[in-house]
Amino acid sequence: MEQTEVVKPESLDDLIKILHTIFESDSINVEEVQNIMESYESNPQDWMKYATFDQYRYTRNLVDEGNGKFNLMILCWGEGHGSSIHDHSDSHCFLKMLQGQLKETLFDWPEKKTHGDMVQKSQRVLQENKVAYINDSIGLHRMENVSHTECAASLHLYSPPFQSCQTFDQRTGHKNTVKMTFWSKYGQRTPFESTVSQENN
Ligand SMILES: [Fe+2]
Repeated sequence: MEQTEVVKPESLDDLIKILHTIFESDSINVEEVQNIMESYESNPQDWMKYATFDQYRYTRNLVDEGNGKFNLMILCWGEGHGSSIHDHSDSHCFLKMLQGQLKETLFDWPEKKTHGDMVQKSQRVLQENKVAYINDSIGLHRMENVSHTECAASLHLYSPPFQSCQTFDQRTGHKNTVKMTFWSKYGQRTPFESTVSQENN
């Protein structure tokens, strides 16, 4: 098999341009997207303007709306911040580490009839510049910045874009639908709305 050649994006803007081209097509080649995101070497100068942190929990910061085909955002994780266990609303989810590390814990979907602890499938630590991929057929996950000294930033691409997802209680498997909000859009702090918890993806 011939390897498709991967162009190396010179900057985040360059990466966004390439992603726009890739997503013009109706079918998504997961490996192609993963490769191109991985070949961008994170440079804080490119993305600092989007990265705003909150003391209490991680923030979601919109970077690009991908011509309606995808949402690209940067999640900023303070020390010890983590997401709940969540699904990805039938979308593709790509996550690239821009700074620091995140621990990913993968879970099976809870069985309808059984109650009790959710089954943990695997765990891994994502290092800087690495790209992870998940969708609902792979399972559910929780992301955590387990460091007590370092913050973390991750670039997320969701296609098609979605505005709500489901979160799961690890002890019972009970789920909740959560509307997601942006802390900032295009580098501007989003006007305060009586914020529904901004659960992640
Ligand atoms: Fe996620």
